[in-house]
Amino acid sequence: MTNSIRALRGIEPKLGERVYVDPAAVVIGDVELGDDVSVWPCTVVRGDMHRIRIGARTSVQDNSTLHITHAGPFNPDGWPLTIGEDVTIGHGVTLHGCTIGNQVLIGIGSTVLDGAVVEDKVVIGAGSLVPPGKRLVSGYLYMGSPVEQRRPLKEKELNFFTYTAGNYVRLKDEYLAAE
Ligand SMILES: CC(C)(COP(=O)(O)OP(=O)(O)OC[C@H]1O[C@@H](n2cnc3c(N)ncnc32)[C@H](O)[C@@H]1OP(=O)(O)O)[C@@H](O)C(=O)NCCC(=O)NCCS
Repeated sequence: MTNSIRALRGIEPKLGERVYVDPAAVVIGDVELGDDVSVWPCTVVRGDMHRIRIGARTSVQDNSTLHITHAGPFNPDGWPLTIGEDVTIGHGVTLHGCTIGNQVLIGIGSTVLDGAVVEDKVVIGAGSLVPPGKRLVSGYLYMGSPVEQRRPLKEKELNFFTYTAGNYVRLKDEYLAAE
């Protein structure tokens, strides 16, 4: 365990194979990172009162904040945070107690709130706000604050999800090799 990756309440983050957590990022508590996940500088992944799960090859880019809502009198089950595979989370994104599918691009500076569900293969434009409990349907571009559905994704955009995830896998491999 490094200072970046910290246990809480006796629960240690679990890391898959070839995971990169930058020394300037923080990952705390009940967090599981799938194989080839990358967590970039000044990102906070704080699984202190509920669980956070992140699927394989997902990148969480610089200055992002990932957190949950605890179970209590106002939220009986709380809101865990679940993120799928091949998700690109841009710089300065806040994800709070929501569910993100596979092959999603979350634009720079966006916020997704408790109970929101983003289905597979969705692009969220930079600077968007996804309100609590909203569902974003597979295959569409959403943007704005609050987000609105703008148009179906083009063929090129549908193919971009795995390209950009793979690009970040290669980049973090360079960082791992330099350690
Ligand atoms: C939304 C996006 C995908 C562009 O989609 P597009 O359909 O090609 O949109 P266009 O560039 O043709 O712009 C269409 C309109 O939306 C506006 N627009 C573009 N991006 C926007 C955004 N993020 N939020 C609000 N409006 C946006 C444009 O200004 C334009 O407005 P206009 O018609 O009044 O002139 C792109 O702007 C974006 O936000 N990409 C995310 C990039 C990112 O954060 N990547 C992560 C890197 S790690």
